[in-house]
Amino acid sequence: MGADAAVGDEAIDWLREDQGAPGSGFPWPQSETTRAALPSQSLAPPVRVPLAAPRTAPATPASRRGPSEAAVGAGAEARSAARTARDLDELRRLIEGFDGCPLKATAKNLCFYRGAAQAPIMIIGEAPGREEDIEGRPFVGRAGQLLDRMLAAAGWSEENVHITNVVYWRPPGNRTPTPQETEACRPFLERQIELVAPRVLLLLGGSAAKQILRTDEGILKIRGKWRTLEFGSSKVAVLASLHPAYLLRTPIAKRQAWLDLLSVRAELSG
Ligand code: URA
Repeated sequence: MGADAAVGDEAIDWLREDQGAPGSGFPWPQSETTRAALPSQSLAPPVRVPLAAPRTAPATPASRRGPSEAAVGAGAEARSAARTARDLDELRRLIEGFDGCPLKATAKNLCFYRGAAQAPIMIIGEAPGREEDIEGRPFVGRAGQLLDRMLAAAGWSEENVHITNVVYWRPPGNRTPTPQETEACRPFLERQIELVAPRVLLLLGGSAAKQILRTDEGILKIRGKWRTLEFGSSKVAVLASLHPAYLLRTPIAKRQAWLDLLSVRAELSG
């Protein structure tokens, strides 16, 4: 049935329709067609998301329709609260109290970051996996160990890097996070980037690259090309590279990933 890890002591009733059902706090966007097909009283008020809307809205299963007004309000509030966090501890507390990302309902732990609180290099991956979910720290499984070896070869350690993901909770079965899930986490991630104040953002894999660079192009096409993005009042140099999990499956691609790390080193040394 696709179950690969025990995440709770009691089974979750996914078919429950009341407000307490897992994921019911998430304001699922509805396409115009879905909207028209639903009875008007089941529609929640629209949520203002200050960032670009997800490119595709999924069909909304009946069991997930119609988040309560309170849940929608809480989600919107948390999004604006993210901008006010003065440090990473405050941001962590806000994320812990945020129920707007449905991944939280099935994850064991929040995976916020590992490494230095402020660092010249900030690394952003796709999503926590099984080991990360158990430990509550990003990139601690096999892919993370390869990442650490690559960073060490380039002369870096947890003291000079800040490592996180585009979503803070593990997607069930390690599936790719949906645009709704990444969008829900994005205000927190943007504030995290401002607080870490890196000189370089290194995006690992297609998911992170697509989300941060707002592109549909494949990772093999966009990797290795520098861009500049603005977060708050600071400009950050951004480079997309290959995900270490891909490198484990495709060792021949390690050469390209190594060239990308050398490019980061050159960028940092001016
Ligand atoms: N893959 C990721 O993208 N992030 C992790 O934290 C672990 C594996």
